[in-house]
Amino acid sequence: MNFTSFDNIGLVKVLGFLKSHDKEYLSGQDLSDILKISRVAVWKHIKKIQSLGYKIDSKQKLGYKLVGNTSLLLPWEVKDGLKTKYVANRIYFFDTIDSTQTFASKIANEKEGTVIISNRQTDGRGRTGRRWSSPPGGIWFSVIFHPKFDTSLSTLFPLLAGVAITNAIEKHFKIKPELKWPNDVTIKGKKVAGGLVEASVESNKISSLILGIGINFSIDVSKLEKSLKVTPNFYGITALVDNKVDKIKFIQTLFYELEKEYEKLASGDKHTIIKNWTKKSATIGKRISVMTSAGKIHGIAAKIDDDGALIIRNGKKTHKIIVGDISHSN
Ligand code: BTN
Repeated sequence: MNFTSFDNIGLVKVLGFLKSHDKEYLSGQDLSDILKISRVAVWKHIKKIQSLGYKIDSKQKLGYKLVGNTSLLLPWEVKDGLKTKYVANRIYFFDTIDSTQTFASKIANEKEGTVIISNRQTDGRGRTGRRWSSPPGGIWFSVIFHPKFDTSLSTLFPLLAGVAITNAIEKHFKIKPELKWPNDVTIKGKKVAGGLVEASVESNKISSLILGIGINFSIDVSKLEKSLKVTPNFYGITALVDNKVDKIKFIQTLFYELEKEYEKLASGDKHTIIKNWTKKSATIGKRISVMTSAGKIHGIAAKIDDDGALIIRNGKKTHKIIVGDISHSN
């Protein structure tokens, strides 16, 4: 099953009418007359709406009444109340896909801000070729960007994503998440979200940059934790769980925050991103270790460099880490 934000007009019309009249029953005939579609079409849309998880009470002679919403991140739900200028202006939604990131790379020429969301992924991809477990109900999406800025700034993208995710979490949950270099979001030392940045460069210009974000939102991580324990650098996972938080509102805030942070980078303001990342960092000031091609490096994480790299100090020695998996030792 898949939907986009630019089709399903009939379904969205029927749903919209049910939503705006949710205190009363509407007959198939009423819906057909008002929306100027056949009764068969009304019936088909109602069945489809129900299959998407909306609860519709239907009573003989009275008709249909919407009594419950869906928990799926359907395009028309995400767009309703969205405050961005272009992020998620166009949405592709899948119930199941191999990877939103892989799909995004196939449509990378689409407009700036196009978003691909899936309810579950069968082959979710994490950093450094790792798998990313994406069971139903979590937040798994990719955003297509076409940055006009210099390729050198793209290394700050993971940090930008981390800042946006933590901002959105803080706005909806009573939690202070932290950031682990380069792009993990953690809660009490366990990973709750991660970002994956894949850029396509042509003649030294970024033609497209795809940002994939995975957030363990209301999912049961206990089973996942068992299977992930064997992966290198695993340090525990956790989920955002609060039944009072509306998933649609949360993702709308996240898209808004992503756009805001992206615009900072687009305007060349990398220092604010680095400053905000550092404020929320669980890495800076910590004793850490990192595996590099030259062997394992230990030291104190001193700061984030202008290009997003991590500076480690060990006595008089300074190391600059551009990519890698770090381990916090204290
Ligand atoms: C990481 O921390 O290793 C990055 C994880 C990124 C996962 C997301 S989920 C949506 C998008 N699609 C993918 O296949 N991966 C990213």
